[in-house]
Amino acid sequence: MTNVVSTLSGRKPSVEWETPQELFDLLHAEFGFTLDPCATPENAKCPRYFTRDQDGLAQNWAGERVFLNPPYGSEAPRWVEKAVTECRTAGTLVVCLIVPRTDTRWWHEHCAHAAEIRLLKGRVRFRNPGNPADRPQDPSAVVVFDPDAPPGRPTRLTFWDWQVKAGRGR
Ligand SMILES: C[S@@+](CC[C@H](N)C(=O)[O-])C[C@H]1O[C@@H](n2cnc3c(N)ncnc32)[C@H](O)[C@@H]1O
Repeated sequence: MTNVVSTLSGRKPSVEWETPQELFDLLHAEFGFTLDPCATPENAKCPRYFTRDQDGLAQNWAGERVFLNPPYGSEAPRWVEKAVTECRTAGTLVVCLIVPRTDTRWWHEHCAHAAEIRLLKGRVRFRNPGNPADRPQDPSAVVVFDPDAPPGRPTRLTFWDWQVKAGRGR
């Protein structure tokens, strides 16, 4: 499973891959997030968040501006589907930070209809406190589901050197 490693050999895998604060800050400055629907108290990016026990998938996101870095692997499609549903039915802005699995059905069914897709330059170093194997495994994409995007407008695809934007340069 992508971005999931065993915390110790043979033990339960960890999905607690936290977005680097500077990447979140950059997106937050642009989109003004109010909700992180997949989080723990330790890695929540917004004051309002949902944990696994609350099940962010089962919650209502209406009226929020959502930053979504979902559990990767087989769980990711359900979260992206929820993002699409919330955008279409409740007018919720959802910005997803996900792996660009462009060969999958869920990318073609959902992400292909996003307002915007940004392909990130470089590998994002997600943080996993206490896990020594926090090497980036996959590329990342930002996928924006924007209820205010004009209907029928083609998805805007860009190549995004976010580290330059964040003032890090490379
Ligand atoms: C990839 S991490 C993202 C963490 C953090 N929100 C961030 O972006 O830095 C995914 C998070 O989703 C949480 N999670 C898993 N299933 C969940 C669920 N059903 N509802 C809410 N959170 C969930 C995990 O505990 C984990 O903290």
